[in-house]
Amino acid sequence: MDTSRDTLLKADELGRIEMTERGGVPVIRRDIVAARWWARSFARRAAAREARALAKLDGIDGVPALLGWNGHELLRGYIAGAPMQQAQPRDKAYYRDALRLLARLHRRGIVHNDLAKEPNWLVRIDGRPALVDFQIAWTRGRRGPLFRLLAREDVRHLLKHKRTYCPQALSARQRAILGTPAPHARVWRATGKRLYKLIARRVFGYWDNEGQGRVRD
Ligand SMILES: Nc1ncnc2c1ncn2[C@@H]1O[C@H](COP(=O)(O)OP(=O)(O)O)[C@@H](O)[C@H]1O
Ligand SMILES: [Mg+2]
Repeated sequence: MDTSRDTLLKADELGRIEMTERGGVPVIRRDIVAARWWARSFARRAAAREARALAKLDGIDGVPALLGWNGHELLRGYIAGAPMQQAQPRDKAYYRDALRLLARLHRRGIVHNDLAKEPNWLVRIDGRPALVDFQIAWTRGRRGPLFRLLAREDVRHLLKHKRTYCPQALSARQRAILGTPAPHARVWRATGKRLYKLIARRVFGYWDNEGQGRVRD
């Protein structure tokens, strides 16, 4: 296979993300084999979860198509655009469409769970939102209070980005949501986050693992 046109987008303990092509069409490849040995089974489970989420979200505009998953590599359709930290979406239409996109996810029983990270939000060429990185998504359907709590956290994380880039368009209700994080998020902020940062720095050598992109929580 000719790999000369592959572009590395990201590499860490859990593997590599590359842009490559299949049959002349650009695709995004998640390579589990490149994960460190001690992280490999975790990386494989996370990729399997992503594959399950993408399969359930098939056909939704703003979510990459699942093109393949064989236990070693996961292929997703490429979405042309730029990550949020680069594109800095200041148009309120972006957030309206992003809320609709989240509603569609949630209706299919998927919660994303990793939306505090700007690099997981894309701004497409036409300005509309798209989502990537379903590795820690909830994929088991709409089940009770925990699902609703996590779905609301997805929305709250989006509103945090809106508060950064488009604060004047926040409604009173949206401000209220921002003011009331879920209990686990409060506990996390008070305790777990510090511990996680410590571990992330010591073990992984990073905290904000995607470099430029900020994590709002
Ligand atoms: N389908 C896609 N289309 C365009 N860019 C993508 C796509 N998937 C991932 N990317 C880019 O690659 C980066 C890393 O992918 P991601 O799935 O978030 O990996 P990780 O789980 O390691 O964070 C994303 O932040 C995004 O910039
Ligand atoms: Mg990511």
